This record gives sequence, C-alpha cells and structure tokens, in this order.
Amino acid sequence: PPISPFAIQFDAEAATLTPEGPTLTRRMSALDGLFKDHDAWQQAVADGDPVVYSVQSTPVPEVDRELPQSITSIEAGTTAGEFWMTKGHQHPNHQGEIYLALHGTGGLLMFDGTETQWIDMVPGTIGYIPPGWAHRSVNVGADPYKFLAVYPGGAGHDYGWVLEHGMGKRAYAVTDGFELREF
Ligand code: PA5
Ligand code: NI
Repeated sequence: PPISPFAIQFDAEAATLTPEGPTLTRRMSALDGLFKDHDAWQQAVADGDPVVYSVQSTPVPEVDRELPQSITSIEAGTTAGEFWMTKGHQHPNHQGEIYLALHGTGGLLMFDGTETQWIDMVPGTIGYIPPGWAHRSVNVGADPYKFLAVYPGGAGHDYGWVLEHGMGKRAYAVTDGFELREF
C-alpha cells in the first residue's frame, strides 16, 4: 500500500529518527575483503567480531519514487592502522544522495572509477554524492561518527562494485589525524 504523509522526529543531538524502521548492524565479519590487511581483519573477527557500524532507518520503503532516510553510526577504531568504515557501494542506476554529519569526525570517500574525492565531515557538513560516484564513510575520530543519509528509494546498493574496483584510497591513522593513501 502507498505510504501516507507522516512526521519524523529528528534529534540531531541524539542522532535518532522516530518512528524507527529496520536497523542494520554490521560486525567486522561483514567487511570481508575491504580492509587492506586481510590477516588483521581475520584476527579482529576472531577477537570477538566487534560491531563496526549500524544503520537505523525510518519506515519509508526502499522502492522507486520514495525518499528514505537513515542514520549511520560508525564506531571508532582501526584495523592495522586503517580507520573503521562502511562497506561502501555504488548505486546501480547512478542516482545521487546526500549525507548530513551529526556527530564525531568523519570523511566521505567517493570514487567514480578513475578519481577519488574526500569530503571532511563534521557536524553540519552536507556531503553531496553525485550520480555515478561510489561512496564510503570513514570514522577518523575517537568518538562514534554519525550522519543522516537521504536517498532515492530505488537507488539500491551495489557492494560488488566496490569489491571489484576498490575506492582508490584508504584512510590511515597518523599521529595527528588521518592520511589518505593509494595502497
Ligand atoms: O544510503 C547510504 O548510502 C547509507 O545509508 C549507507 O547505506 C550506510 O551508511 C551504510 O553503508 P553501506 O551501505 O555501504 O554498508
Ligand atoms: Ni548510497
């Protein structure tokens, strides 16, 4: 049935959306093949398989012409020096998306197959993801990094694209923050 108009309570401070739809939780084991150091990834899975991030959505369905929203919270951490991040995906039909940073210090890493772009994400920053850019979020701080996403319901999530093409660069911890490296 078509969804009726409704209000969503957005608490930017608490980083919550009410009413809640499904919540997705991704543990380290769900990030197979994404960190550079596979042995370190495997060790982290064996050492308790920690939650890396969760995504809380509203009840708006992910179907064409709808406009769903969600809040992603990425825990702080590194695996062999590489900051914890989302899997990253391409939208199969190349639709755009926006992210609004709410809490912590993050980055929006984008790759169009040739060029990599990075946007520093701090509370108040809107990161615009143009059509055709694969996107991944990275927590480069000591607190959870949280952001709101608003995206076309028919956008989809092609995770295989990122496994095949990578994201061009990776974010590593250095003494005073992070550094993007091509390997
Ligand atoms: O719509 C989006 O791009 C986000 O809501 C992501 O799905 C979310 O941040 C989780 O990342 P991923 O889907 O790459 O696991
Ligand atoms: Ni997306």
